[in-house]
Amino acid sequence: MIRLAVDGVEMSVPDGASVLAAVRAAGGELPSLCHDDRMSPAGSCRTCLVRADGRIVASCVTPATSGVRVEAAAEELRALRRGALEVIAAGLPRRALAGTDSELSRACADLGVGPDAARSTGGRGADTSHPYVHLDRDLCIACGRCVRMCSEVQGTFALTLTGRGADTVVAPGTGGPWVDSDCVACGGCVDTCPTGALTEPGPARGLTSATPLPIPGGPATGVTRTTCGYCGVGCSLDVVTADGEVTAVLPDLGGPVNRGHACVKGRFAHRYLRSTERLTQPLLRHGDRLVPVGWDEALRHVADGLRAAVAEHGPESVAVISSARATNEENYLIQKFCRVAIGTNSVDNCSRLCHSPSALGLTASFGMAGGTDGFDDVQRADCFLVVGANPVEAHPVVGARLLNRALRGARLVVVDPRAVGLARHADVHLRPHPGTNVALCHGLAHVMLAEDLTDETFLRDRATGLPELTALLDDYPPARVADLTGVPESDIVAAARLYGRAQRPAILHGLGVTEHLHGTDGVRALANLAILRGAVGTGRGYGVNPLRGQNNVQGASDMGALPDLLPGYAKVTDPEARARAARVWGVPVPERPGLRIPEMFAAARAGRLRVLWVIGEDICATDPDTHQVVAAVRACPLVVCDELFPSETARHADVVLPATSWLEKDGTFVNFDRRVQRVRPAVPPPDGARSDFDIVHAVADLLGASLGCPTPAAALAECAALTPDFAGLSHERLDREGAVPWPCRGPDRPGETSLYRERFATPDGRAHLAAAPYLPPGEEPDDTYPLVLVTGRRWAHYNSGSMTRRGPNLTLAPVDFLDLHPDDAERFRIADGAPVSVTSRHGSARLVARVGRESAPGQVFAAFHFPAHGVNSLTSGNADTVTSCPEYKVTAVRVAPAGATAPGPPGRPDRRPGIGPGFTSGAPGPSGVLEVGAEGKGAERRS
Ligand code: FES
Repeated sequence: MIRLAVDGVEMSVPDGASVLAAVRAAGGELPSLCHDDRMSPAGSCRTCLVRADGRIVASCVTPATSGVRVEAAAEELRALRRGALEVIAAGLPRRALAGTDSELSRACADLGVGPDAARSTGGRGADTSHPYVHLDRDLCIACGRCVRMCSEVQGTFALTLTGRGADTVVAPGTGGPWVDSDCVACGGCVDTCPTGALTEPGPARGLTSATPLPIPGGPATGVTRTTCGYCGVGCSLDVVTADGEVTAVLPDLGGPVNRGHACVKGRFAHRYLRSTERLTQPLLRHGDRLVPVGWDEALRHVADGLRAAVAEHGPESVAVISSARATNEENYLIQKFCRVAIGTNSVDNCSRLCHSPSALGLTASFGMAGGTDGFDDVQRADCFLVVGANPVEAHPVVGARLLNRALRGARLVVVDPRAVGLARHADVHLRPHPGTNVALCHGLAHVMLAEDLTDETFLRDRATGLPELTALLDDYPPARVADLTGVPESDIVAAARLYGRAQRPAILHGLGVTEHLHGTDGVRALANLAILRGAVGTGRGYGVNPLRGQNNVQGASDMGALPDLLPGYAKVTDPEARARAARVWGVPVPERPGLRIPEMFAAARAGRLRVLWVIGEDICATDPDTHQVVAAVRACPLVVCDELFPSETARHADVVLPATSWLEKDGTFVNFDRRVQRVRPAVPPPDGARSDFDIVHAVADLLGASLGCPTPAAALAECAALTPDFAGLSHERLDREGAVPWPCRGPDRPGETSLYRERFATPDGRAHLAAAPYLPPGEEPDDTYPLVLVTGRRWAHYNSGSMTRRGPNLTLAPVDFLDLHPDDAERFRIADGAPVSVTSRHGSARLVARVGRESAPGQVFAAFHFPAHGVNSLTSGNADTVTSCPEYKVTAVRVAPAGATAPGPPGRPDRRPGIGPGFTSGAPGPSGVLEVGAEGKGAERRS
């Protein structure tokens, strides 16, 4: 700590603090128009002048030093600051100060600079091309905050200052209109702008995270702090509302993960809330039509169907797909409903389709199903090994923080077949053939062993399995691994040396590791590297950390929405675990593990599944080999679907129940680094929509099964009572403390951010090396299907796109592209921007070609944000041999020009990854009867 005096008052500030921070800590008000704590100081505007030991200094760029005497409040210093403001104001039009609420106008009002000080006549024009960022050039003071936000915090480098002297103004670095620039609409520039030059249009105009809120009577009468419901990063957001509508979503400056940052989804993609397509009335199937009915009739139909199925076919004839989109409390209630009200363990969630190999692999290697370390600790690493993940697009706030570290000197190894966003900043980019991760990891481990880049003490004292792994690795010298993976031998050696020689090496991985035929082996092969290096269980971070894709996919599994595991990952086959649950729930817990999601579909197609309840998942759009999924849904006599919109699954369901979204819910989510955070309703749901929590309770009541847990808070309390690792969690504590990581084993005990410091949670307390050989993927290209399709996410959309396609994100990314290499484009005569048909052994899809070098020759890439394009009809039924996680990342396909029958027109080209022209799914409006048509369930049934 540094001791100093501010206006005669002795005080202390942390090492590294600026004089500006010290003055503010002392309660002083200083304008700081070119400064934002989120980035480095510039010292250019001179509005923060103070006197330090007799010298006039810009406080933002002056470090606080021991014993310095700072004067800030004296009138002569206020006059200096007033003068600096008057110089700035003179270059602005009157509207910059009159009737505007901005950091500048508030500073001027505080120092007595009136609107008459603004003397410019303006005329520099505006750029309103972008749906979320409007530029009024006349209000730009060239402070550079937006430019530094874009480069230092977001890492996109999309903005620059152009012009000279008083004509200097922010502009996209690419020139041209903002909407065609490299901007990824994180909102950072809007949030930091002190004058209103950059604003979000509409009722959010001028609102930033620095705006004093709420504003009585204005467009910001309420503010609700909640946790983002898009990806698994867990950004803390302040939702600004007026008259029951969302005005703006602002990043929480104190957010534990996002630290005042956000992305195009969490910050801007909320217009879906009031979409005219929102479901507001239950729908019940009558033949090939879904007809609006009242809640009583719909719920009675569901309860009668469940009762009849159990009575006639037993509880195993019922299955529920719970939701990674839903809260922990809802997931807890849903799994309890299955086990208590129905008597089955057949409940699963979409972690089955993404990170089930991470959960199982990490448990086998270390003992627990979550990432090993908190992200703050991970970020202190001096070398990152990022494998099969594209955080710049799929987890933008984490991607920005990683990029930030890489730009400040941390070494970066990226393993991905594609040239993903982080790859261009990597020291080494390894591009293995899809499906060869295990071989590549073994190659890295081989080099680490051969070059003594291991921690022998750690291996001796804390690990097991080294002899078996050493023997296996004899078969994976770099030359052979280069043959298997296509990665040059020298790159394998270079990457192994970077990771092995780093002092604080961290591994982050994504679905490029898990969504494979041998995804669990891939996770374990990665864990081997951390164990060999002794870079896990340090108590200081690093480790192996999965980047979770959905907002609460960690929590859905934590809460026991799994067919073989109870809350807290207790095995249903463990009599003690069942007895513990039975004591809390008051009924015996079924002993036999239930069906996994793919097994549910198989059982439906075989006629064994009589009721399938799908909560918050669009399985007919996002699950692999969708023709088989649709066949399962058609074969199941009663399919119930909780949804926001008339999704593909809803169109095939028998009962559709209108549900609420994350901005309308009360509960908690668990993010990717195991932080449990509150979710609070910011706006009321539309009339007619109900939360999944209420819906499950209502059905249970009709079945005569009381679930207890009358409120979400009570549900988490019951889960805490049942589950030692969550024993310290409660809504009251989370409201008081903010984020709390699990394990948290008591109300008075802290959550554990960094796991395994003393011992691993395996039965023997050791980390377990795995000696699993490389096995090839389920599909290989051949003469008929010569290309390998990899699927994944784009920056502007989220999963099936049901939320992000219903708002201006659609303007930013109106179509799904097929990325292909120029060599393949020439080989198959496909032009950039042309419609293209893609065919696999399982189905076909139509996309728009984007020719570039992001994908390697022989590989193509597509997202699945537009179900109408049919990308998931291409993917196979192959799945991880251990967890049944689908092999989304390897599908053999062929491509051909689609001709005039392609589903949409090419549009505006775009330089950003993942942006392109296109078409929408054209989902029908939901307020009345939903016509299902010839392909729908009713038609199928009648035939
Ligand atoms: Fe210190 Fe601008 S805030 S010089």
